[in-house]
Amino acid sequence: MKALILYSSRDGQTREIAARIAQTLAPHQLCDVIDLLAAQRVDWAQYDRVLIGASIRYGRFHPALMKFVTLHKAQLQQRVSGFFSVNLTARKADKCSPATNAYTSKFLTLSPWQPDCCAVFAGALRYPRYRWFDRVMIQLIMRMTDGETDTSKEVEYTDWNKVAVFAQDFVQLPGKSL
Ligand SMILES: Cc1cc2nc3c(=O)[nH]c(=O)nc-3n(C[C@H](O)[C@H](O)[C@H](O)COP(=O)(O)O)c2cc1C
Repeated sequence: MKALILYSSRDGQTREIAARIAQTLAPHQLCDVIDLLAAQRVDWAQYDRVLIGASIRYGRFHPALMKFVTLHKAQLQQRVSGFFSVNLTARKADKCSPATNAYTSKFLTLSPWQPDCCAVFAGALRYPRYRWFDRVMIQLIMRMTDGETDTSKEVEYTDWNKVAVFAQDFVQLPGKSL
């Protein structure tokens, strides 16, 4: 059986993290990586492990995330499952765990699906790639939170070692009988 990694990504960082996790899983298990927004029909019979990753934009995950986990709660719960969130708040050491990252803890409280493991990863700040409005807004948020305000910069805060450790932990979780 295979592992399924679904990602919800606006600017590509969550997709990159999903791809890196798939690379780490590869020696242990075949893996499909699919955009959550394109996952209308999932052939659940192929998968015994599922990971969902999603990024934050203006304080929210994409609404498709909660819809998906509500619709597929039973299939997710039957399998070994994990969740990871990606945001810039998580660049701060005191806001990078599921309990201390407000977006993630709120999601876990509201979600009918309770994953077996969960992680929070810091994302990327890529000013030159944002449209004007987003650039100004993010700069404002960064100014208020002591972050990078130079709009000529691209900064990747993702801790790739933390991503690798999470992937290893996920693949080592004991299987569930389907
Ligand atoms: C328009 C915009 C709004 C964002 N809003 C938030 C936010 O409210 N809180 C936060 O922690 N990060 C915020 N971020 C940072 C993103 O979560 C971060 O850039 C992440 O790497 C994006 O992942 P993605 O490329 O997979 O979409 C925002 C980024 C952009 C471009």
